[in-house]
Amino acid sequence: MKRRIFITGATGLIGGHLTAALIDDPEMDLHILVRAASDAAAAERIRRVLAFVGREDGLGRLTIHRGDLTQPDLGLGRDAAARLGAAVTDIVHAAADIAFDDRRQSGRSALTNVTGTRRVLQLCSPATRFFHLSTAYVAGLHPHLFAEADLDVGQVFRNDYERSKFEAEQLIRAAFADRPKQLTVLRPSIVLGSSDTARTFQYSSLYAMLGLLRHTAQDAPGARLAFDYDPDATQNYVPVDWLVRWLAHIVRNPDCLGRTYHLVSERPITNREMGRLLGELLGVSFEPRPVPPARLDPVSRRFVRQAAPYLPYLASHPRFDCAARRRLPAGDVDFRPDARFLNAMLVHCLKTNWGRNLDLAR
Ligand SMILES: NC(=O)c1ccc[n+]([C@@H]2O[C@H](COP(=O)([O-])OP(=O)(O)OC[C@H]3O[C@@H](n4cnc5c(N)ncnc54)[C@H](OP(=O)(O)O)[C@@H]3O)[C@@H](O)[C@H]2O)c1
Repeated sequence: MKRRIFITGATGLIGGHLTAALIDDPEMDLHILVRAASDAAAAERIRRVLAFVGREDGLGRLTIHRGDLTQPDLGLGRDAAARLGAAVTDIVHAAADIAFDDRRQSGRSALTNVTGTRRVLQLCSPATRFFHLSTAYVAGLHPHLFAEADLDVGQVFRNDYERSKFEAEQLIRAAFADRPKQLTVLRPSIVLGSSDTARTFQYSSLYAMLGLLRHTAQDAPGARLAFDYDPDATQNYVPVDWLVRWLAHIVRNPDCLGRTYHLVSERPITNREMGRLLGELLGVSFEPRPVPPARLDPVSRRFVRQAAPYLPYLASHPRFDCAARRRLPAGDVDFRPDARFLNAMLVHCLKTNWGRNLDLAR
């Protein structure tokens, strides 16, 4: 029997690439959830995502359900939600609000990521297989190796986003406690565009940082940014094409079910190295200096204010155990942004004006 897979977040970076990767699979019927004001607008939104990844031709293979995680019954209507739940064999839950600027979020992380996840869980029958896109950063600021089996280790979180993803995982694990083989948890680190061209339509994390630094370099050429960060701390990135190869393999292979996977780089980059590369690329430099924000020079102070949501990620040495992932067929595991990749990122960001020239940028 064909698998009927319901994918949330298919208009997002990861869900979009994953949908495209599975779209030709003859063993699968794909159903996707799309937020939009009309059916035509929903179809147009996913068409643009597929066009971005070069798979517009697959549009006709998708069944689109117009809905919203923040609405009861996902905004589908009670009967339609019940029919969908009874029909699907698998759910890939990739939708989330991934913004982590707590100053602007005002509860959206909890509403979308926790309440929304509860609503997706309501679709499940006792036989449904569930694939949950979590994040390796549910580890929060845990100072030791975080195992795939770990979840609540008493960690402190950097922001509401991390907390909401942690709470969502707790909900899901509780829901599948009596049938753990049907739950697969996927925990990527920070996801970038494709490994060759850095192409993306999501301009958060390192893309946003690159934009801030580029502005700084334009306003204050040769600026020396001195602020409090740990040069030996690491940032863990994985390109979307690598991630989706792993995800598609896991979704396809019954042997992979029932586990948790840290889908991360095993060779994360240090702040020192990232600072050197970004400095060479943009003509700025960095100095780790523990000074209170009020005593920073004006250029550094403005950068620190604008980059505030990202700075907690420059202060930790997260370590993720990858035992389950290592059992997957070979695939690169040691991505780290280098000069070539950062240059490609800059070229892509300039060409798209950090997404402003793209009709699907997020
Ligand atoms: N990006 C990363 O670095 C990263 C790292 C680790 C884990 N993850 C996890 O991976 C998953 C996918 O992330 P992503 O990077 O692909 O994020 P993304 O590009 O921002 O996509 C998020 C997706 O969720 C959908 N969504 C958000 N709110 C919704 C709502 N209320 N109702 C229905 N759909 C909604 C979005 O729909 P719209 O298009 O309508 O906004 C979009 O399709 C998330 O669970 C995230 O937590 C991401």
